[in-house]
Amino acid sequence: MFSLSDFEQFAQQSLSSDAWSYYSSGAGLQQTMKDNEAAFLRYRLRPRVLRDVSAADTRTSILGNTIDFPVCVGVTAMHKLAHDDGELATARGIVMNQITATKYKTCMVLGSFSTTAMEEVAEAGSPGLQWLQLYIFRDRELTRSLITQAERVGFKAIVLTVDQPVIGPDSYKSASLPPHISFPDIGLSGPINKEKVRNLIDSSVTWEEVDWVKGLTKLPVVLKGILTAEDAVEAVRHGVQGIIVSNHGGRQLDGVLASIDALGEVVRAVEGRVEVYMDGGVRRGTDVLKALAMGARAVFIGRPVLWGLAYKGQEGVGRVLEILREELKSAMVLSGVSRVTDIKAELLVH
Ligand SMILES: Cc1cc2nc3c(=O)[nH]c(=O)nc-3n(C[C@H](O)[C@H](O)[C@H](O)COP(=O)(O)O)c2cc1C
Repeated sequence: MFSLSDFEQFAQQSLSSDAWSYYSSGAGLQQTMKDNEAAFLRYRLRPRVLRDVSAADTRTSILGNTIDFPVCVGVTAMHKLAHDDGELATARGIVMNQITATKYKTCMVLGSFSTTAMEEVAEAGSPGLQWLQLYIFRDRELTRSLITQAERVGFKAIVLTVDQPVIGPDSYKSASLPPHISFPDIGLSGPINKEKVRNLIDSSVTWEEVDWVKGLTKLPVVLKGILTAEDAVEAVRHGVQGIIVSNHGGRQLDGVLASIDALGEVVRAVEGRVEVYMDGGVRRGTDVLKALAMGARAVFIGRPVLWGLAYKGQEGVGRVLEILREELKSAMVLSGVSRVTDIKAELLVH
């Protein structure tokens, strides 16, 4: 296992066809999903030389919390489709570096559609950094209770997904989810009819609900799924603390810009007032370097974590992260940058 594509191949061969197709698919022609990866290759690097990179350091911070490298685990639903230990394995894989057996820290976003209870994941991920991804459910009391619970278990931010007023066409193929899949935090247990899940989400949501969430919690609120300068400015106006530029891994509206191509306009629009992150198609250290050069504070990975889980549970997740960390460090060194804050736009050309 030397690169993330090794994990992808392993996952494709070992997962059930239903699980693989749920994880790997995108909407429509899958143009956006494929472009998320391909677009990175259209940016080239402009390395500088003779800059003493002997003490290169990948550490940074997001929303005031230090992380050991700017690659975080994004939200993906239903980790138990990939491994029986589900989100527990993910949380443990993050805090324990499997190769050097040392503890390190990055951020994990746990989904509303987690197949493991939030409380257990919080415990398994300690002393890591965890954020909760939230949907605005039709049941506002349920929505509110998830926020309260996230605060209680020590999560450090609420990530509100705003690009999914309806669940996209790529969802699980069979009418029911496998019997071992349940969503303890939202009180759904197996076997779960897929339509029931679809009906939970409220498609009438507007910026008013962003204000509503902000009013319910002192935690920072991050909006996930913004692709335009217009919405980025609106997000700042509504007082959010972060934006994740994302097209949901190409699973919602096909034909939108690759995330890396949309990142620049969002970074310019917010003018440093909030932190900007991105996800979509990050598969190697140079992708991370390019996203940071374009102004992302950190990146999130979706599918690669599921591949790591499918490979060897927590060990697989740890190895996926370690590969990206090593690749990023090497890319920084070879580009002549020693610190994450020194990764600047001049490094990049389109
Ligand atoms: C199988 C799968 C499930 C996902 N579930 C969610 C979800 O429940 N909520 C959400 O906001 N995003 C979800 N996403 C989107 C990811 O957070 C992220 O935007 C995307 O996967 C990033 O692209 P990448 O997979 O190319 O790294 C999901 C993505 C995948 C592949």
